[in-house]
Amino acid sequence: MSGQTTVKVWDPLIRIFHWTLVAAFTLAYLTGDEMTDVHTIAGYVVAGAVLVRLVWGLVGTRHARFSDFVYRPSKVLAYLRDLLMLRTPRYLGHNPAGGFMVVLLLISLLVTTGTGLVLYGGKGGGPLAGLLATAPATPDAQTATPALIYASDEHEEHGGNEGGEHEGGIIKDLHEFFANFTLALVFAHIAGVFLDSLLHRENLTRAMLTGRKRPLSGDE
Ligand code: HEM
Repeated sequence: MSGQTTVKVWDPLIRIFHWTLVAAFTLAYLTGDEMTDVHTIAGYVVAGAVLVRLVWGLVGTRHARFSDFVYRPSKVLAYLRDLLMLRTPRYLGHNPAGGFMVVLLLISLLVTTGTGLVLYGGKGGGPLAGLLATAPATPDAQTATPALIYASDEHEEHGGNEGGEHEGGIIKDLHEFFANFTLALVFAHIAGVFLDSLLHRENLTRAMLTGRKRPLSGDE
């Protein structure tokens, strides 16, 4: 891009948010659901980053705002139709499909971290501990645990959930489901980024690092 004029698109907060999210989500995913310290801290970083991003979507710079990249469903579908024909218009900010993906990612990350917080709270950790902690002192006390939410490993080991409604606890299932759903979204997101980069002969990943893109030309 040397010698070519570029314009500022992604502000520093967006770029720091993005690459923090990539690192923290990857770390949280790889450390699994075992509530290890690393998993929990990485989860907090993801949740904090997403909350900051939500506020920035309302008050941030032009291309950071939801109003800049949340389009009507008909516009998203029209964009996807164009994409099938490999003939999409170029956007400076997120394109309609990319914007829809951003919203999906943020929602999925919120549900993943939210269910993580509830699970952790049930084990006596985090901000929800006071509300949710059930920490059974004796095996009998375990029945006081809202099993739908937190079927414990011990409960499972004794076959307590066989064919029952308590399998693994709904919250744990939801947490795992949304972690995997987010991962699937991430793969689609990365495929979209590379496809769009090819179609418009620009390096979108580099733009997410530098914050800059070539300006829209008259025919774009
Ligand atoms: C190495 C892998 C990744 C690459 C190369 C990448 C690249 C990008 C690029 C280029 C954009 C801007 C797209 C555009 O021009 O419209 C973007 C946006 C975004 N990506 Fe990624 N991404 C990666 C991984 C992830 C992961 C793992 C997550 C979430 C867990 C994620 C979430 C997001 C979000 C939320 C945005 C919107 C940024 C904003 O407006 O705040 N990305 N990504």
